[in-house]
Formats: sequence, C-alpha cells, structure tokens
Amino acid sequence: MSDFSQFVPEHVRNLRGYTPGKSLRQAQQESHVNCIKMASNENPFGPSPKAVQAMQAVLADSNFYPDNDAIELQQKLAERHNVLPEQIVPTAGSTALLGIIARTLLSPGLNAITSERSFIVYPIATQAAGGQLIQVPMRNNGFDLNAIAAAIDQHTRIIYISNPNNPTGTLIAAKELDRFLDEVPEHVIVILDEAYYDFAEYFGRIRGVECSHALDYVSQGRKVVVLRTFSKAHGLAGVRVGYGIGPAELMSYFARMRTTFSISTVAQAAALAALDDETHVRKTLKNNAEQAERLVTGLVELGYAPIPTWANFLYCELGDDAAAIAKRFQTEGVIVRPLGPWGAPTAIRITLGTPEQNDVLLRAFKKVIERTAAR
Ligand SMILES: Cc1ncc(COP(=O)(O)O)c(C=O)c1O
Repeated sequence: MSDFSQFVPEHVRNLRGYTPGKSLRQAQQESHVNCIKMASNENPFGPSPKAVQAMQAVLADSNFYPDNDAIELQQKLAERHNVLPEQIVPTAGSTALLGIIARTLLSPGLNAITSERSFIVYPIATQAAGGQLIQVPMRNNGFDLNAIAAAIDQHTRIIYISNPNNPTGTLIAAKELDRFLDEVPEHVIVILDEAYYDFAEYFGRIRGVECSHALDYVSQGRKVVVLRTFSKAHGLAGVRVGYGIGPAELMSYFARMRTTFSISTVAQAAALAALDDETHVRKTLKNNAEQAERLVTGLVELGYAPIPTWANFLYCELGDDAAAIAKRFQTEGVIVRPLGPWGAPTAIRITLGTPEQNDVLLRAFKKVIERTAAR
C-alpha cells in the first residue's frame, strides 16, 4: 500500500474541501418528491435569456480554445465601471479569483483576516495557499471592523470582506468602510467581495442607504480589489464567470496566475450578453426586494426573527438542530442550507425565490414546525 500523504504538504493534508449545497437531483432521489432549490443563492428566474441565446450561438465554435484573457469582456467591464482594462481580471467565477489572490499573496507564515460566519471559501483559499486565516468574532451578525483592524499584524497580507455578508446577509455601509480603510496599514490588501452588490444597491435605493464606495477606492488607487460575479443577479452560476477590479500592477499578477484557458468561450459569450440584459437583472432585483419583505413578514408571523437581508437570501435562527430540520424541509420539497459548517448549527439560509416558490417555502415552513413540535 502506498502512503501518498508523504507527498503532500501538511497544509494541503489538513485542507477540508468545499461542502456544496445539495443538488436538485440528489435531493429528489433521496426524498422522492419534486424539490425547489433554495440553498445556494442562485437566480430563481434562471439565466439571462440573452445569455442563453449567446451561448447557443457560440457552441459550434467549441473546437477552438477560448480567448485566454477574455479581452472583449475585460473591455466591456472596464467601460461599465469606468476603469482601465488592465484593472479588470475576468476569471472562472469569483471563487477562482479568491484562490488566485490567496496563492499570489500568501505563503506559510503569512495570514489573512476575515469575520467568523462569512463566505466558506475564504478558509479554503487561504489554507490551500499555506496561509493562516484569522476569523474574528461577529458584531450584530456582521463584520466587526474594529476587531479586524485589531487583529492585523506584520504577517497579515489580506483582509476578506464579504459585503453583503454570506450567510448573514448583513451590510457594512459605505461610510463605515471608508473609515476602516483609512486605518488599514500599507502591507495589507483588502478584498471587497461584492458578489451580492446588485441586490444591495437595489435595497440601498429603497432604504436610502449608500451601500458601496468600492469603485471609488479603486480609482483613488487604494490597496483594494473588488470582486463581482455573474453567478447571482445575472443567473450564470453554472457557467462560471466573475471578475476582479483593482490596481493594474496587482491585477497583472492575478491574471498570470489564472489557469490557462479557464474561462470558456461559452462563459465569455454568456457574460457579454448578460451585461446587456438589463430587463432580466431588473426583474430579478425587483422580485428579490419584494420577496424579501414578504418572506420576512411570513417568518415573523411564524415566530421567527430572520436577519434583515441586503442580498438574495435570508439567515434564520431556528433554535433547533438545523441539519435535521433541513431534512424535513426536503421531504416537503424545499432544499434549504443548514449552517453547521459556518458554526451555526441551529440556523438555516434560505435563497429568496419567485412568489410561487416562496408560497411553497412558507407552506413547508408551517408543516416542518408542526412536525418538529410534535417530536
Ligand atoms: C460572498 C461570495 N463571494 C463569492 C461567491 C462565489 O461566486 P462565484 O460563483 O462567482 O464563484 C459567492 C457565492 O455564493 C459568495 O457568496
């Protein structure tokens, strides 16, 4: 018998992989009912129809390698965000970019800082690069920027901020982040992960809150990288496209670290078309804001206190074993995400759905509560 562990560095041996949300097929096989997936913060209206058309149009070119640098997409995003093309690096999802950033900036002996109960990829990316992740306690279910500032030492290179935060849905308002950035020392790069930016911006307009100055930081030349994705508001999670915006020199290192040809021709076509599909994005954002209000009201009526959200999901404390309750939801045809892996074994995260999906969710919630109470 071979022992392959001796070939593998300790930080890789200790790595725990990503635990994905349950797929529809897997859930349906287990529960023998048709299920709705409300577990992975995907777009309930599907992909942008313009993106689907664009993908179909390029399928016949699949014998050719893609444009390694995704230049057309890079140009279009640069125009959209009013930055230079060299300041944009498209990648196969923003998760891929998180891995690239960690591998570029970290090595054994260096550390990154984030909040506890934040995006589950930060520990994986950091540890895979041989770095150490410091997770500071939360404040009011969100990032405690004072605690993060206090945790910085001379070995810190990265701070990851998920804004809004996954899984709690909380927002750090722009002015608070302005003050924090003024305190961050020169040897640290702040990653502003804005996967849910579109949802937050929409809520911000309704609620009269300025939710992000991220692109201003980039144009001011600060040591900040902003991450955005096509997986959420544009509905392209399965196609894998995201990008970073930051200082041109830093971004050139990240571009070199990309896996060659990793953004497929299909993904590039989809992203380009999705950028022009304002109708799909608007429909998604409007529904999300309306349904957030409705689901919060519905859950409050059932006796729960979901955290007010700035994203496309709700975090709900159940006060009971969430993994067991998620199984009961599944038998009622709804897949929700139990948050044990985030250190919250009694909470779930629910992706906001269409009005019809949320009807099903609320009905399932009532049944699950009754079943749980009857135990
Ligand atoms: C905070 C955060 N960042 C990044 C991502 C990943 O996005 P992508 O699909 O572009 O890899 C997610 C996805 O859930 C997320 O919640």
